[in-house]
Amino acid sequence: MKIFLDSANLPSIKKYNDMGLVDGITTNPTLLSKEKEDPADLMREIVRIVRGPVSLEVVGTKTEEMVEEAHRLMKYGQNVVVKIPMISDGLRAIRQLTLDGIPTNVTLIFSTNQAILAAKAGASYVSPFIGRLDDTGQDGMSLIREVVQIFRNYDFSTEVLVASIRHPLHVIEAGKIGAEVVTLPPEILAKMIMHPLTDKGLTAFLDDWEKLKKEKPNVRI
Ligand code: G3P
Repeated sequence: MKIFLDSANLPSIKKYNDMGLVDGITTNPTLLSKEKEDPADLMREIVRIVRGPVSLEVVGTKTEEMVEEAHRLMKYGQNVVVKIPMISDGLRAIRQLTLDGIPTNVTLIFSTNQAILAAKAGASYVSPFIGRLDDTGQDGMSLIREVVQIFRNYDFSTEVLVASIRHPLHVIEAGKIGAEVVTLPPEILAKMIMHPLTDKGLTAFLDDWEKLKKEKPNVRI
């Protein structure tokens, strides 16, 4: 399972990248809008720091605009993946970018049929937004289950990138299904690291070590 960070926040990206937890990054205009840095500077820096794929999203909605923006985004670095919205013009753009050798991540996927079509057009990744489906009362994870099964049935090379993840259980479920990638907001990654029994256990170990040092002052590891 690959873990991408769903963030444009440089301190978070650096922090988790230094832990070796970041296989890639996904960004979008909303995430860029939350940061104080200029978006172009930010994107350049993220692409420089992270070795794995970095998804940068187009903002045009016409095929020609998306293709032109994609070629510009690719100048940030070799590891850029261009994020394209799941609309008709987007599918045409994916087709063209695939012919141009540019990898794509198709965003805003909410149905199995959209995922199939994005893969057929040549997408490198499809990004179903499971949390936003859960918010509407639908089961986001069943979309992942269907897409993974269908891609396997036909040996599609497109990877399923589970997006809009809201809690650590989503990560476990996605892993059980066998989705290739999960993209996580930094807060979810932080929750995955923590367990109260780990903290409690560590406190007990360190207390016992202090007691031992009082009994045997020369003890050391
Ligand atoms: O990559 C974008 C996606 O993860 C959006 O998440 O929380 O805005 O639904 P959210």
